[in-house]
Amino acid sequence: MSQFTRWSFIWISILLPACSSHIVTQDNRLAPIPPMGWNSWNAFEAKIDEAKIKSIADAMVASGMRDAGYTYLVLDDGWMAKERDSNGNLTADSEKFPAGMKAIGDYIHSKGLKFGIYECRGYLTCQGLPGSFEHEQADMNSFASWGVDYIKLDACYAEKNGRLTTEDLKIYHESILKTGRPMILSISDFGNGAWAWGGKEYGQLWRTSGDIYPWIESVYFCANTSGGSESTHPGFNGLWQFAGPGHWNDPDMLQVGNLDNEAENRAHFSLWCMLAAPLMAGCDLRVMSDTVRRIFTAKEVIAVNQDPRGHQGYKVYEKGGVEIYNKPLADGTTAVLMLNKDSVATDITVSWEQIGLKGRQKVRDLWEERDLGTFNDSFTAKNLSRNGLMLIRAGSPGGKPVPGPVPVPLEKYSITRSGTTLLGDIYYIMKSGDAPRMDRNHKGEVITINGTVYKKGLGCKTESRIMYKLNGRADRFMASVGIDDAYEGSEPGRFRVLNEDAFGNRALFDSGKMIKGTPTMDIDIDVRGLEFILLEFRGKEVNGDWVNPRIIAR
Ligand code: GLA
Repeated sequence: MSQFTRWSFIWISILLPACSSHIVTQDNRLAPIPPMGWNSWNAFEAKIDEAKIKSIADAMVASGMRDAGYTYLVLDDGWMAKERDSNGNLTADSEKFPAGMKAIGDYIHSKGLKFGIYECRGYLTCQGLPGSFEHEQADMNSFASWGVDYIKLDACYAEKNGRLTTEDLKIYHESILKTGRPMILSISDFGNGAWAWGGKEYGQLWRTSGDIYPWIESVYFCANTSGGSESTHPGFNGLWQFAGPGHWNDPDMLQVGNLDNEAENRAHFSLWCMLAAPLMAGCDLRVMSDTVRRIFTAKEVIAVNQDPRGHQGYKVYEKGGVEIYNKPLADGTTAVLMLNKDSVATDITVSWEQIGLKGRQKVRDLWEERDLGTFNDSFTAKNLSRNGLMLIRAGSPGGKPVPGPVPVPLEKYSITRSGTTLLGDIYYIMKSGDAPRMDRNHKGEVITINGTVYKKGLGCKTESRIMYKLNGRADRFMASVGIDDAYEGSEPGRFRVLNEDAFGNRALFDSGKMIKGTPTMDIDIDVRGLEFILLEFRGKEVNGDWVNPRIIAR
């Protein structure tokens, strides 16, 4: 957004409430704290129907989940008929939902819950049902007429749309506004960089990861897409600086209740609360154990997630499997998670200095809902076994707000000045696959292509995607590419430079298939006006390098 449009947006936001009611509420007030609810995918995949959804709604009330804050009941993929009706409108699968979608929405609302629904911006959903591509306004109108409150918008097949992701999402954003019904837009795109390209201008939450699975390694991986460096440069220390009231990083829906044991379920829930992640339950609530119910409804733990300050927690320590996260809260206290992901039991000590406090501080155990006393300079959680943790609140309410960390300034991760910038000298804003090696090939050796040694470059292993923020400041992107001599196989690798993200799919450069021995190829392309470029390297476990990748700006 240009400086001009940003200011006009702010002014319009200030002036409009007086004359028009719904337009501004969309962005600013739909999700001031992370949304909470239940989604059908992790429990049932596409096997959903009217009876099941109604009994889940009943269970949300009876179990106390609704009263604990889980208000959105979201029907994921699998609710719709295989074909649109004769008017081109979406309709319910009549076998699964004989009374139709308005009726199921009414039932959900009658229970004091909110109604969420899944669609996809490609021409098909991920399950091959009708997607919304080229039906955007009509589908948003249908949703509004059914009383939908929350839309999960997937991205399967969106690379065929011929639009940049931001162009696509702008259409949805505006179509939703035109319906006049406030509806949350949850961007589901497998972690495609929405924090980077301005997802908050279109939706209230965005995925930071691929799909989560019901095992703890997957949970920890997803946590690290938001709280670690799995999806961005380590210099950011996670994605905390891109979240806040109204816009949230979403490391995917909860597998609490689907994991192997209580310790894993608690570790998962604690992490999502610390990361200010949307809390979308995903187990069969009708048959959950009392232990799982107690985890979902742990009041003081949920309060960390729902804290009005909306500061996403961040790591203050990480070594091996030992992690400490800090989340400064609105009342002047701060929440601290000490987690042992290792198999050997250990003590974990947090010093007040690490979390912005000093001296004597009160400590409360948030899972046990118990005051533990006052502690000088630090606190130690004793003998934490694998997946063991302590979640505490330190400090006194009403005290001075604990400062958060300083966000990474723009000049460290985008083009802000004239001249030549080597991309290795700024942080990439998004990556998927293994992290690129700076000035080394992927094995950590010097970059060598066809016998020539290069000092500067990014060593990659397929599949690799790295996004850089150009900030509209760049003129040209230059680099050379080739398969590294250290690669021992004969598989081809393909380098592409894309405008924005992978779904936008607008190739600015395409090397075609290169094998070991193919001469290096030089890139010199016009990138004027672009906000982002994506460096993509694909193939089957091939090692290749972007040599001297650089931006020239006037
Ligand atoms: C994608 C999404 C999942 C789920 C399925 C439905 O994989 O990431 O969360 O919505 O599609 O098909």
